Amino acid sequence: MRFSNTSAAVCAALLPRAAATIYYAGVAQSSGEFGVWSATATKGTGLPGRFGVDYQFISTSGVDIMTDQHKVNLHRVAFLLERMCPPSYGLGAKFNETHFDYFKQAVDYITKTKGAYAILDPHNYMRYNDPSSQPFSGSVIGNTLDPTAATTTQFGAFWGELAARFRTNEKVIFGLMNEPHDMPSSLLVANLQAAIDAIRKEGAKNLIIAPGNSWTGGHSWTEGGAEASSNWIHKLADPEENLAIDIHEYLDEDFSGGHAACTQDPATNLAGVTAWLKEHKLKAFVTEFGGSNTTACTTILNGILDYMAQNEEYIGWTAWAAGPFWGPNSPCCTDSKQWGSLEPGSKAANGGPSLYDTVWVPVIQKKVPAELQWSGIASVNGGKLEKKA
Ligand SMILES: *[C@@H]1O[C@H](CO)[C@@H](O)[C@H](O)[C@H]1NC(C)=O
Ligand SMILES: *[C@@H]1O[C@H](CO)[C@@H](O)[C@H](O)[C@H]1NC(C)=O
Repeated sequence: MRFSNTSAAVCAALLPRAAATIYYAGVAQSSGEFGVWSATATKGTGLPGRFGVDYQFISTSGVDIMTDQHKVNLHRVAFLLERMCPPSYGLGAKFNETHFDYFKQAVDYITKTKGAYAILDPHNYMRYNDPSSQPFSGSVIGNTLDPTAATTTQFGAFWGELAARFRTNEKVIFGLMNEPHDMPSSLLVANLQAAIDAIRKEGAKNLIIAPGNSWTGGHSWTEGGAEASSNWIHKLADPEENLAIDIHEYLDEDFSGGHAACTQDPATNLAGVTAWLKEHKLKAFVTEFGGSNTTACTTILNGILDYMAQNEEYIGWTAWAAGPFWGPNSPCCTDSKQWGSLEPGSKAANGGPSLYDTVWVPVIQKKVPAELQWSGIASVNGGKLEKKA
């Protein structure tokens, strides 16, 4: 449902807050990070890449169907740091303007043409300079023992520049990094804080979402002893108090999203991170989750969607994944069988229905809340900024 600022304000004043707390719901748009994989881990493969051939951020028709027909108000748009900041420039405030323009067109289409919200998603695992064997290749940002690594300061400069370019668009959400892993949590927090400080220094009040360590897994948030995300991530400080947590949660045996069988109970596995969110008065998005077309996955996907709807700590989600370049390939949960993606119109490799037909339409789409936020600045409070007294 779309409503104007004025009627939203009136409703907020007259009505008690509805129980539902999901303000933002939709899909990950994954394809902007495509085209760099190399079986021999050859550095530089697919860089800078050909827009529309090796990678592309969205298909406008896919975004139209998701937004107009399925009433989602959130798209998470993946891109690669090595395309935005070519390795010859280094990570920082100098962008490849041609690449940036393609990216901005996609973000503007989602936010201005369709009126939905967009998460900017540097799909880099807190690494920079070699995506040829992602998620493991590339130097960990800020690793002072690696002379080829970009620094924490450079990561801040990158985010300051990106924020300056989008600060006037209140529908843009800054997703600081996709799935950091295998790095010290102290360095993760230092990098994230440098980004937050640089963003706010530019005067951008946009909602920021920050990941944890260990692939930002919800089930493992409190695991890992001293390194556990639960010991670190609440240390992040945001002067605008418009910071939420970015969680990923897959439902198969090893939480990888690789397997067709859903076996994990989301309510049990998310209990720890939910208690941590409550303790620190933080809100969260689950920006990656998914399942295959089995009966068990239907049950468990309904389980995680209901869990998020029922726990006020959760304010948004994007399912993994739609995007124009998946073709018959599957973004998750199919044991390498190619059953298509959540992209409208995609087909499985065997010609059968895709995950769009078998998982999005009958399962996930049914849990898109009827009332979502369609106006105002993306925020932990829905459409307004509200500092604690
Ligand atoms: C910038 O992007 C364009 C378009 O993809 C590409 O042709 C060009 O080579 C890129 N420049 C650098 C320095 O990577
Ligand atoms: C899942 O989808 C694929 C591709 O359409 C199909 O071959 C398979 O039979 C489906 N599995 C179930 C359990 O429906």
